[in-house]
Amino acid sequence: MLSSNLTVGENGHLYFGGQDTVELAKQYGTPLYVMDEIRIRENMRMYLRAFEEHFGEGSRPLYASKANSFKRMYEIAKEEGMGIDVVSSGEIYTAIRAGFPLENAYFHSNNKTDWDIAYAIDNGIGYFVVDNREEVDAINAIAGKKDKKQPILLRLTPGVDPHTYEAVSTGKVDSKFGTSIETGQALEMVRHTLSLPNLELKGFHCHVGSQVFGEDIYERASEIMLDFMALCRKEFGVELEQLDMGGGYGVRYMDDDDHVDIPAAIGRVAAHMKACCEKLGMALPKIFMEPGRSIAADAGLTLYSVGTIKKITGYKNYVSVDGGMTDNPRYALYGSKYTVYHANRPLDEKNLVADVVGRCCESGDMVQPNVALPEPVRGEIIAVCTTGAYNYSMASNYNRVARPAMVMVTPETSYVTIRRESLEDLVRNDV
Ligand code: LLP
Repeated sequence: MLSSNLTVGENGHLYFGGQDTVELAKQYGTPLYVMDEIRIRENMRMYLRAFEEHFGEGSRPLYASKANSFKRMYEIAKEEGMGIDVVSSGEIYTAIRAGFPLENAYFHSNNKTDWDIAYAIDNGIGYFVVDNREEVDAINAIAGKKDKKQPILLRLTPGVDPHTYEAVSTGKVDSKFGTSIETGQALEMVRHTLSLPNLELKGFHCHVGSQVFGEDIYERASEIMLDFMALCRKEFGVELEQLDMGGGYGVRYMDDDDHVDIPAAIGRVAAHMKACCEKLGMALPKIFMEPGRSIAADAGLTLYSVGTIKKITGYKNYVSVDGGMTDNPRYALYGSKYTVYHANRPLDEKNLVADVVGRCCESGDMVQPNVALPEPVRGEIIAVCTTGAYNYSMASNYNRVARPAMVMVTPETSYVTIRRESLEDLVRNDV
């Protein structure tokens, strides 16, 4: 099985997080997002422990909530002692509704509107991660009107190519995110920021990309960032206290994908940072990272019911399911790979190769091509693994398909954490 929270029960069914997936499908209906609460907590604790061990007090991981944002997730992050990264007023509002302490939240985005800025300040956001010089001025002006001095980090591009897919590569000089060190614009932005009365510059942020496996990506990026911090000390006499290295460790979608030993990788980055700081004669700043995918992805699974099975003689086979690009657009967008199991009979002989497709009126609505499966019959359950990140958070109502429910499981119990959208929900805002 792809990960340790996937097992096969005595009845031959696929189990996830200790629960029978076929029973979950029966009880809650399909399509269904299933989240493994224990695995979410384990993943968070893995980062928390590694940070404590290697970076010490004041440093901490922030859950990048764009990976999967809903109230229960923020409650768990709060219980575990994670900070969070938020990217919109919608994520901020969800975190507020979950009772998450916003002083531990970092507000990203390359284009925050004035409304977003005011909303975040009014609700006591801990930090803005400011993308560019215009935004520096906008936040300073709005904080000024509210008589506040707002703590911020500046998002910089270190010019490192993470060798991941283009859509998620963000640390290069020509990225739409952040301000470049190489062009001199970052230094100029720091000079400007330090002259403003309503901003408190706490440090810097960079994010090189997502689904990153490359061995030394964080070492290279952190070296550039620490050099830049030393330059700021020399130029402006400031010792900034925070360095946020963004998110990005990759996860396994397929059996033959690499495995990142995240605690070991964090240990190596920490050792490298400490050596750099020693060379530069500066104290190690407080370090932050923003894992999203590696917290949520393998804690999630999607269950679908099989509908039409179409065999086009001499050509190909299709297995249609009752969801698709509306609940998981990642194959349509990035050609992402997924491991697919027949949930009723995962160990049976795989005697059919088929494209598993969704039900939207669009040929690109594909869950996964060329899947080898025990031949299913209508009504049986298909499980798609590693869907805990960037599935629900990227879902849509295309074709007026309602979004699935989400249930959280532990070995003892299961409970609804997001209700299934109803037909009424779909017309709620129509006037
Ligand atoms: N921090 C920042 C500033 C980010 O932009 C991201 C992801 C993260 C943290 C979290 O990265 P992670 O640990 O999840 O790799 N929709 C795409 C992924 C987009 C990622 C965007 N930024 C996908 O489905 O693959």
